[in-house]
Amino acid sequence: MDLNNAQTSSIFHFATEQARSIVDLQIINLVICLGLFFTVAGLITAAAIKFRQRPGDGEPDQSEGHLKLEITWTVIPFLIFCFLGVMTGIVMYKVNPPVGKRQPDVIVNAHQFWWEYRYPKSGVVTANELYLPEGEDLLLEIRAADVIHSFWVPDFGQKMDAVPGHPNNLFLKPTRPGLFIGQCSEYCGAQHSLMRIMANVVSPQEFETWTQSQLKVPAAPIDQTAKHGEELFMSKTCVQCHSIAGTPAKAQVAPDLTHICDRKTIGDGVLANNSDNLTHWIMNAQKFKPGCFMPNMRLNESDAHDIAVYLENLK
Ligand code: CUA
Repeated sequence: MDLNNAQTSSIFHFATEQARSIVDLQIINLVICLGLFFTVAGLITAAAIKFRQRPGDGEPDQSEGHLKLEITWTVIPFLIFCFLGVMTGIVMYKVNPPVGKRQPDVIVNAHQFWWEYRYPKSGVVTANELYLPEGEDLLLEIRAADVIHSFWVPDFGQKMDAVPGHPNNLFLKPTRPGLFIGQCSEYCGAQHSLMRIMANVVSPQEFETWTQSQLKVPAAPIDQTAKHGEELFMSKTCVQCHSIAGTPAKAQVAPDLTHICDRKTIGDGVLANNSDNLTHWIMNAQKFKPGCFMPNMRLNESDAHDIAVYLENLK
């Protein structure tokens, strides 16, 4: 699955059961509104033609009040509003049922300017590329580490704000496989527009395989270049923000790099993931994503390259 195969987003597409309910309601709404529009516009046009002033017409009949008509045009809209109100209530309850004691399947933690995905049931921690099993009822808990962000994949239905100190819940039951692109949709700072969501919906078997691959603790590097890269990584400030399973790097401020080689992009969708790009990103991430929190470490190209080799070989 590569980024070029991402599904095009539309408010009329749906990839979850929840989005389907919302789209259905939207269509019912649209049909009723179009019906009303054509009825009212048609009556006005017909009246304007039929009762237009003709040469020689005198003063029209003066009339006032028409009880039956007034009751009719009050009751009909009232019933329409009641119907739409009840339908909306049903869909809201279906899409956001009470959570009760249910534990989340994924904890989505929004950071300036990337997404952290934790799977508390398996212990997987990853960044920027979300994996979800098709056909399963999932509960996502949306959190924020710093400022307010918003999790929004149009094909999944509603947006959900990520508010610091106030976790929100989002139920999703993915109905078709694919790569669905989303975007942070609450202005959160300089790189808000580059806070992409890449959501992969895969079969439950593929999801299990992915989970197992993410749980693997990478072997220590053997290759000289990678070894040198590891030494640099562990001795520079990298370890103060990033973590890599099975090493002393345990910080959780920045993306977990344990399985960075499995990701398609670097910097949450900014660069394709390959060792050249990773080298340049490590040298100066600010060049590619100005305002992100990865500082310019003033590493020379050779050192940055060795770190990139170390990271790309974590398997
Ligand atoms: Cu995060 Cu906008």
